[in-house]
Amino acid sequence: MDLVVNNGKVVTPQGVFQANIGIEGEKIATISKSPLKGDEVIDVSGKLVMPGVIDPHVHMELPFGGTVSADDFKTGTIAGAFGGVTTIIDFAIQPKGESPFSAIEARKKAAEGKVVVDFALHASLTDMEKVEDGDIRKIIEMGLPSFKLFMTYRKEGLMVDDGTLFALLQETASLKGLVGVHAENAAVLEYLIAKFLREGKTEPKYHALSRPNFVEGECINRAITLTEEANSSLYIFHMSTKEGLEAVKSAKTRGVKVLAETCPHYLMLTDEKYEENGQLYVMSPPLRKREDNEALWQGVVNGWIDVVSTDHCPFRTDQKAMGDTFDKIPNGVPGIETLLPVMFSEGLKRGMPLERLVEVLSYNPARIFGLENKGAIEVGKDADLVILDPREERTLSYETLHMNLDYSIFEGLKVKGYPVTTISRGEVIVDNNEFYGKEGRGRFIERVSGGW
Ligand code: URP
Ligand code: ZN
Repeated sequence: MDLVVNNGKVVTPQGVFQANIGIEGEKIATISKSPLKGDEVIDVSGKLVMPGVIDPHVHMELPFGGTVSADDFKTGTIAGAFGGVTTIIDFAIQPKGESPFSAIEARKKAAEGKVVVDFALHASLTDMEKVEDGDIRKIIEMGLPSFKLFMTYRKEGLMVDDGTLFALLQETASLKGLVGVHAENAAVLEYLIAKFLREGKTEPKYHALSRPNFVEGECINRAITLTEEANSSLYIFHMSTKEGLEAVKSAKTRGVKVLAETCPHYLMLTDEKYEENGQLYVMSPPLRKREDNEALWQGVVNGWIDVVSTDHCPFRTDQKAMGDTFDKIPNGVPGIETLLPVMFSEGLKRGMPLERLVEVLSYNPARIFGLENKGAIEVGKDADLVILDPREERTLSYETLHMNLDYSIFEGLKVKGYPVTTISRGEVIVDNNEFYGKEGRGRFIERVSGGW
């Protein structure tokens, strides 16, 4: 064996068991009850061995609101690797007036040479005038079987209408593609933004007040109705409300193929954050109430929510200070490095089994998004592993995290359990607080369709 990981407690969705893992080249070659011999041996007694985390919702170097998100494909994926992330899915967002294919090529180019873990892309369509017959099939065949449609962000040039959503749902139903949505009722939130601005209410807290829970709840219900009528499947990105969760539960119960994602900030933080330095917490959808946090945690623990991602879209404090009114603050917050530590430590407190943790962070994102060689500890899969020390205690701070930022949304949070070693396709890229990977070593992964 080239590399062996001996004496670990291996975590899979089916159970937690003591095992030894042998790696040859980039693949898991054997899983054995007895310790293995190899060229390189890592003894992980007392530690957990989990499939590498897949973060299927990140925005590296994304132009937004007159600036660009602060992590590029290098800094963002190095930070991710420190947090046990071995695959990301970013977005190829079609600029209005251009073909979706140029966005895909541009995004691949932006990542290549920089990205340190494997990456894939969702196709984000914004202008159906430039999408020709057969293009959707072509995009799926190029290894991008998932799409993101923005049901809001009109002034940013990203929004599509319900007709576009319905048409894409119909087309993907036969092609086994998956449509995902950013679900917020644009007309209502635009009305509320204009009203607050007219009234001189410009502080960051009005970002949240202009996007109340029903703005998301209504939109998720609408998207589900369209999905049901199209006999298609739907993925809901970054769900933040108990109303959204109720809609998902009801749809799943009547057999609609709806998959839901939430993020650690919607589980952990509330709209009280908008009272002081609120601009640092401006993201869409916004932070909610404690009762939403608790409902979403139950959704994660009980299986109604399929994926926990980060929507990593960070801006430094100087970028967040841009604009003198709440509607001009660049939307987004960091998270890629803290996903696993926060979900492990806080999930355990809430009774989340380890099997469920690896399901929402690795197994489900791999299955749903067609990363067929990722997300599981099985012979033949890519040797993407994270070793987590359950005894390691840390206090999260931007000063010791690796994201290209001067603040953390989880500043001061004490976590117990931390990733200490990250292995990507058989290569140790992080160990003992050091990064060993080479810039640009990450590969573009062509995904397969229809896995959900
Ligand atoms: O505020 C957010 N979520 N920014 C990133 C873009 C998006 O909507 O996912
Ligand atoms: Zn979004």
